[in-house]
Amino acid sequence: MMSTSNILTSLFLLPCLAQVALSAVTKRATVCNNSPDLCSKAYNNVTYLGTHNAPFLRDSSTGNSQSGNQFYNTTVQLSAGVRMLTGQVHNNNGSLHMCHSSCTLLDAGTLSNWLSEIKTWMDGNPNEVVTVLLVNSDDSSASALASAYTTAGIASYAYTPATTTAPSEWPTLQTLINDGTRLINFVASLDDNSAAPYLLDEFDYIFENNYDNTSPSNFSCAVNRPSGVTTNSALQKNLMPLMNHFLYQTTSLFGTIIESPDLGNISTTNSASSGTGALGASATECTNTYGQAPTYILVDFFNVGPAIDTVDNLNGITSPVGRTNVSTAASAPATSGSTRSEYSTFSLVAALIVAFVLIA
Ligand SMILES: *[C@@H]1O[C@H](CO)[C@@H](O)[C@H](O)[C@H]1NC(C)=O
Ligand SMILES: *[C@@H]1O[C@H](CO)[C@@H](O)[C@H](O)[C@H]1NC(C)=O
Ligand SMILES: *[C@@H]1O[C@H](CO)[C@@H](O)[C@H](O)[C@H]1NC(C)=O
Ligand SMILES: *[C@@H]1O[C@H](CO)[C@@H](O)[C@H](O)[C@H]1NC(C)=O
Ligand SMILES: *[C@@H]1O[C@H](CO)[C@@H](O)[C@H](O)[C@H]1NC(C)=O
Ligand SMILES: *[C@@H]1O[C@H](CO)[C@@H](O)[C@H](O)[C@H]1NC(C)=O
Repeated sequence: MMSTSNILTSLFLLPCLAQVALSAVTKRATVCNNSPDLCSKAYNNVTYLGTHNAPFLRDSSTGNSQSGNQFYNTTVQLSAGVRMLTGQVHNNNGSLHMCHSSCTLLDAGTLSNWLSEIKTWMDGNPNEVVTVLLVNSDDSSASALASAYTTAGIASYAYTPATTTAPSEWPTLQTLINDGTRLINFVASLDDNSAAPYLLDEFDYIFENNYDNTSPSNFSCAVNRPSGVTTNSALQKNLMPLMNHFLYQTTSLFGTIIESPDLGNISTTNSASSGTGALGASATECTNTYGQAPTYILVDFFNVGPAIDTVDNLNGITSPVGRTNVSTAASAPATSGSTRSEYSTFSLVAALIVAFVLIA
């Protein structure tokens, strides 16, 4: 029979042993990007859901701006499984801001604030690899962009590939996590990144299909950018496929065609189904065309569909771990705070003045 002290020792030891076992295990991440199946995969052998214009919200904070591409902010996007964030960087009178087409139209704050939001989330989620794609609207220099990364305290998280041309195989998610370099950064475009080698000129590593679509029948898998390559030569150069899959609706104002994100067709556009214009259909078509799944899939209003279903299908993920569910409704979350409806009117007026295409 065990003495009382032996029992106590056993009771005490068991959790200790469990603790030791656990700390041995936690040296390796057991779940990467919401799945235990992805840790051992090369970065370029995983499909990532991306939010087109991640910081540009159509919610109460912008008076439901027609220029908004997402209903939920970057933090919610990440928690729901989004792993690529895109947005336009503008030079707003000397400071770098995330703005949609123009800072008069929709100003989502400074680049460094946006990067801080991403850092906060990454700090709380240490086994997640995140990709940022900045559209360099005003041709900002690498050092100017890098200064925002430094201010946000996120520059040290950035991964720098060993080569300046696209590698055939990237590190695994596990390696990126272990090395603390789990933030991959692309800029479209950047002539010289010598001041910050972790800022990667997008089209040295990625190719994209067309992005300026106005009809569900217009989606295509053929290469659209960079210029001068065919789909096959892009793949041979190890460029990773980015599949744009969002629609614009057009409005004619005084003879000028204005494009804004198409909400009317969004349930179909983001659906995992195989119907015309559906995300599922395009993902299958592009996977067949490329002989591999697209690395990135970029959508508007990511929560609708939900778009993540198509990405899970491509990654073979049936039981994602650690995601927060978000409503799939094609509308902004209800808020108790006051709405700034005057902003909406302002946006419309600004849209009339700016009167140009609200393209990617
Ligand atoms: C990804 O890995 C699978 C095996 O798990 C392999 O069949 C496929 O070719 C790889 N794709 C790429 C793009 O590396
Ligand atoms: C993002 O949205 C959530 C839900 O509305 C909110 O709680 C959170 O404060 C927001 N985060 C930021 C950084 O705006
Ligand atoms: C731009 O910055 C300059 C110098 O800081 C300032 O004088 C000017 O008012 C600013 N213009 C706008 C439109 O903010
Ligand atoms: C887009 O789709 C519309 C409607 O089906 C068609 O008329 C138009 O030619 C298509 N445009 C392109 C560039 O494929
Ligand atoms: C969907 O897109 C088509 C083609 O652009 C357009 O005619 C139709 O009005 C859209 N549907 C909705 C509900 O917006
Ligand atoms: C999230 O939604 C999925 C599918 O709708 C459901 O299976 C799962 O239980 C939900 N998870 C949480 C935490 O609510």
